[in-house]
Amino acid sequence: MNNYVKIFDTTLRDGEQSPGATMTSAEKLEVARSLARLGVDIIEAGFPAASPDDLEAVRRIAIEVGNPPKGDPDARVPTIAGLARATKGDIDKAWQAVQEAQSPRIHLFLATSEIHMKYKLNMDREQVLDRIAEMVAYASSKCPDVEFSPEDAGRSDPDFLYLALEQAIKAGATTLNIPDTVGYTTPDEFGGMIASIIKNVKGVENVTISVHTHDDLGLATANSLAGIQAGARQAEVTINGIGERAGNTSLEEVVMTLKTRYPVFQLETGVDTTQISRISKLVSNYTGIVIQPNKAIVGANAFAHEAGIHQDGMLKHNQTYEIMRPEDVGVNQSRLVLGKHSGRHALRARLAEMGHALDETDLDKAFARFKDLADRKKIITDLDLEALIADEFYRPRDIFALDGLQVACGTMGLPTATIRLRGPDGKIHTHAAIGTGPVDATYKAIDAIVKTPAILLEFNIHAITEGIDALGEVTVRVQAQNKGAQRTMDAQKEVAYTRVYGGHGADSDIIVASAKAYLAALNKLIVAQMEGDSPSHTDVGVMLVG
Ligand code: KIV
Ligand code: ZN
Repeated sequence: MNNYVKIFDTTLRDGEQSPGATMTSAEKLEVARSLARLGVDIIEAGFPAASPDDLEAVRRIAIEVGNPPKGDPDARVPTIAGLARATKGDIDKAWQAVQEAQSPRIHLFLATSEIHMKYKLNMDREQVLDRIAEMVAYASSKCPDVEFSPEDAGRSDPDFLYLALEQAIKAGATTLNIPDTVGYTTPDEFGGMIASIIKNVKGVENVTISVHTHDDLGLATANSLAGIQAGARQAEVTINGIGERAGNTSLEEVVMTLKTRYPVFQLETGVDTTQISRISKLVSNYTGIVIQPNKAIVGANAFAHEAGIHQDGMLKHNQTYEIMRPEDVGVNQSRLVLGKHSGRHALRARLAEMGHALDETDLDKAFARFKDLADRKKIITDLDLEALIADEFYRPRDIFALDGLQVACGTMGLPTATIRLRGPDGKIHTHAAIGTGPVDATYKAIDAIVKTPAILLEFNIHAITEGIDALGEVTVRVQAQNKGAQRTMDAQKEVAYTRVYGGHGADSDIIVASAKAYLAALNKLIVAQMEGDSPSHTDVGVMLVG
């Protein structure tokens, strides 16, 4: 049994389908690039049959991230996977999306639990076995790398599960992924299930066994690790554990457990763990899903020691209370990189080291933003640069763009905001509003111009780095206000009105950051309403019937 665990990241598929995690195509591409730099083995880039936009986003990732850069043909690149239901139409679309990658994979799934077969699929056992054989063979005729997942394996009858997996192996599957779709099993059960699959399924020695667990009972990481200890050599994970309902197994927890407890597992991954903190922030910014402070590995408090006894111990020897070093996951690496007098070359070189290769036009834009920031803030760190790049280049399509903002607030009058936006018509729109505070006044002024009624579900603000001159970072989540009144529109459009949209903004002025974040979320909502939106994961079940 080999000692390498492949990391299959599904942040862009299972993760992106969690409420409010919708990302734009540009954001997905940037996350995929960061995942490749992180060193994951497989990126599940999306579900191409969901919509033409999803297909195109996966295709771009396959082309741009799934191939080595021109000057470095031997560079290690990740496999790019596309998800498909067990239908020819889905498989065709998945293949269309991933085929241009150097190493493409089709991942297809069909449920094998009694409850899913009876109520969702309306199929009996024979029909399910036949469909697996037919569709895995069909996918294998197109792509040499085919992964099969028996959905809801955690609640499937073991003997039937073995038959289903044998069918998939005979038809050409190269990876068998075992999902605990509803997060129901315990570590003993899940580890036992993987062990019994390895013992009982004919031909299993020729394929990779993979684990895919959900966190409904808070057991996702424990279950995945139990499966790995029992012999699985691929783990399906997401950054920050985002995903359906309570989420998926988080990449950082699995990878850091394998690393920190190496003597127990004696297993390795290809992940550069020093990139973890950076990609965790990127995903949180793009999705608007804030990381809970006490989240293992990536939470703001994960390496903070508050109690006096702990602080005293840490000062005497850091291993008294620290099992991992913060720098192992990239925390505290906000080095001083550039300052007011740094030039264009220095900025280009630092950005390239961070993985952002900008062309001349984009470098001009980044340099102008950098100089503006350097005038206001003495020390510019990697984290500041990351926020600046995200803000400048990975904002959702600007339907309305911020052109100017002025606020008056304090204890001596009514908080007032005057806002200037450039609209889709290219014209400048100005409005002033009063509110309970400067952010409320700003949002009211924006609402008056944008005229897309939205409910602000969540507003979060924090400082990116330490110090009074730190950049403020704001994430918001919004939803269409009139969602209940959309009964007459077609199903696709209705999704646009029920989804939650996240937005992110960074600036040394926190009211400006707040305005940018709100506009980013509203722009996503407006685009979705204009174009209709893609079906969510929940709709996939409905689409599967028949
Ligand atoms: O949870 C699940 O069952 C899935 C499958 C599509 C693998 O996400
Ligand atoms: Zn899942």
